[in-house]
Amino acid sequence: MALLIKNGTIVTSTDSWKSDIYCEQGVIQRIAPSIEPPEGTSATVVDATGTFVFPGFIDPHVHIYLPFMGTFAKDDHTSASVAALVGGTTTLIEMICPSRQEEPLEALEVWQSKALGKSACDYTFHLGVTRMDDEVADQLRQAVERGIASFKIFLAYKGALGIDDTELYRTLNLAKSMGVIVTAHCENETAIYEKQQELLAVRKTGPQYHEPSRPTLVEAEGVHHLMTFAELTGAHVYVVHTSCDEALQAALAARYRGVHVWIETVVPHLVLDNTYAEREAFEGAKYVMSPPLRDKRHQHILWNAIRSRLVSTVATDHAPFDFSGQKTIGRDDFTKIPNGIPSVENRVDLLYTYGVVPGRIDLQTLVDAASTQAARLFGLYPRKGTIQVGSDADLVVFDPDWQGTISAETQAMRVDYSAFEGWPLQGRPSLVAVRGDVQVRDGKFVGRTDHGQMLCREPTHF
Ligand code: URP
Ligand code: ZN
Ligand code: ZN
Repeated sequence: MALLIKNGTIVTSTDSWKSDIYCEQGVIQRIAPSIEPPEGTSATVVDATGTFVFPGFIDPHVHIYLPFMGTFAKDDHTSASVAALVGGTTTLIEMICPSRQEEPLEALEVWQSKALGKSACDYTFHLGVTRMDDEVADQLRQAVERGIASFKIFLAYKGALGIDDTELYRTLNLAKSMGVIVTAHCENETAIYEKQQELLAVRKTGPQYHEPSRPTLVEAEGVHHLMTFAELTGAHVYVVHTSCDEALQAALAARYRGVHVWIETVVPHLVLDNTYAEREAFEGAKYVMSPPLRDKRHQHILWNAIRSRLVSTVATDHAPFDFSGQKTIGRDDFTKIPNGIPSVENRVDLLYTYGVVPGRIDLQTLVDAASTQAARLFGLYPRKGTIQVGSDADLVVFDPDWQGTISAETQAMRVDYSAFEGWPLQGRPSLVAVRGDVQVRDGKFVGRTDHGQMLCREPTHF
């Protein structure tokens, strides 16, 4: 079925202009001031007067199938992808997080099987490297041949997902040799462990102690550590969920020295601060993620870094755990609270309402940080991340006049709370298409939950 979007204002990472867009066979065929459907074709015609037409947004950091901290994240690929689409995200890049014992190729197959036929939006994976030896290296090479062009490593989560320095060095060396970019969670796991024990020993057990157990210095040390190894190996690296000034500066100092580093921040760090983790009646547990929510002063720095494009991407790090029965596992010990804040549905809306509307970022920067840069960095561009002839017809018609509020009652994410309960929103995606098929209309999912395709990617970081 053809799709014709008329009278909208197209916004890309560099431009905005009024034009119609005609799509057929899943791709954009024409962009011109006034298009009529070709004779004899039936097209869905959308009047986008008064709206912005964005390229489909890409969330480069989500967790869907996630065995973690003794439990499992709540969404499956259907609920997460529907939530993503309602929020304007048409492509998800999910972290494959195998245990140390699991073989990488087996993990790839497990994660692929979970998503196959069950995702409403397109998707691909960063393959987690949680152990490194010759056998793992061989399997990672095979994974790259199967279309995986990025790895994920953790310098945190001692004894679980974290790797040691020998493994770090070898992973980066291997990635460099294949042109693969390595995404990394940077926090010093030894320092965290010691801090946690000190706090627990004096009965500081509540969620408000999560941040003091992983202060900004611990994150900055993690980033500096990764930067040193990236400099030694020449690997291209991507720092995920950067939460604070100190970590940002460590990455930028390395970039100044010539390290190939890109920086991600995530929406919770832009709009939430550490006071949320102090909420009474254990409500603070809803706001436990790693790196932790920080002092409010960091938000201003992160927004400025996005505006000036020092930070390349804004992701979510969507990691949904129910408050009741999952977050409560850590009622007597904050180190046992499953880490994560669900937000895949809210990212674009929050960036628009709390970024674009108050003038912290402009529309082009929104598109760049929430779509184009992820496509460029992870081998999806120009198929995804832009509006041009030949690109996939992943399009978001965004109504800037819509007003509403966020609520767990109405969200598509399968989790029993919203970290943004009652927050007002200005603007939302009114229509969302994936490869030309309308998946969301008037803010509601109307599409096929098996429409999503796995995106195979080629390494681009040589
Ligand atoms: O708190 C977080 N970030 N949970 C998900 C796992 C990770 O570290 O990304
Ligand atoms: Zn992480
Ligand atoms: Zn994560």
